[in-house]
Amino acid sequence: MNIVLIGAQGSGKGTQAGLLTEALGLRHLSSGDLFRQAFEERTSLGIRARAYIDRGELVPDELTVAMVLQRLADPAYKAGAVLDGFPRTISQAQALDRGLKRMGRRIDVAAYLDVPREELLARLSGRYICRAAQHVYHEHTRPPKVRGICDVDGSDLYQRSDDAGEAVQKRLDIFFGETIRLLDYYQNQSKLIEANGNQHVEQVLTELLDEFHHHMAHSQHGRYWPGLSMPSNCG
Ligand code: AP5
Repeated sequence: MNIVLIGAQGSGKGTQAGLLTEALGLRHLSSGDLFRQAFEERTSLGIRARAYIDRGELVPDELTVAMVLQRLADPAYKAGAVLDGFPRTISQAQALDRGLKRMGRRIDVAAYLDVPREELLARLSGRYICRAAQHVYHEHTRPPKVRGICDVDGSDLYQRSDDAGEAVQKRLDIFFGETIRLLDYYQNQSKLIEANGNQHVEQVLTELLDEFHHHMAHSQHGRYWPGLSMPSNCG
């Protein structure tokens, strides 16, 4: 079971991926988190990627595709993954399909989180991330219990360097100009579901799970998942 989450910057991909993985027993794979982790560890991949990320540009495919496919080949991801932030282009989606096919796997569902642009800007400017494991908070809509400290692992919270200034607008332009084309790509494969991302986190999750459940029950290749439930840390 592999799910692709598609949504603009700030649409809640990371937030929902964390909840979905718990609900469905999958692993979360975020390309942005992998780049940030590589930078924290000062690897050459992380340092090369950082320059693109700070400008709000896409990291080139030759760095991104290999990194994600290598992670997906890890036995820990064999039961399946929620892919957050990858693919972002048609060529990445095609490379992902080819790579998964070589592993005897496939994308089962692509889920689009639909959120208006003005709401995205408000969300990004109030976002805080934890240093240890990238748990996501918002100063107004999802504050931590103790200011500046992650509820889950106690690490420091920080604001991302690409969540301010020109980088934000550039990232949104790339999404609405290019990444949005993935909707047609997955629609043509009859794998697209959609949820209104402009509602409370718990309502978004409920809609996503309903759509997912419905899709899998009716999909030709799908398995029926009778035990879907809300994760324990939701609400
Ligand atoms: P990445 O880290 O993937 O960032 P992104 O796609 O820009 O997405 P975000 O993390 O900004 O948003 P999100 O949708 O996850 O929202 P979140 O849940 O945090 O990528 C960073 C960079 O890496 C890219 O710019 C690029 O340079 C590079 N990169 C990554 N993948 C690449 C690829 N495939 N190819 C090339 N380059 C790549 O939520 C946002 C905020 O809103 C939070 O504060 C949250 O608490 C709040 N929130 C969430 N849901 C709700 C809700 N329902 N109501 C109110 N608030 C909410």
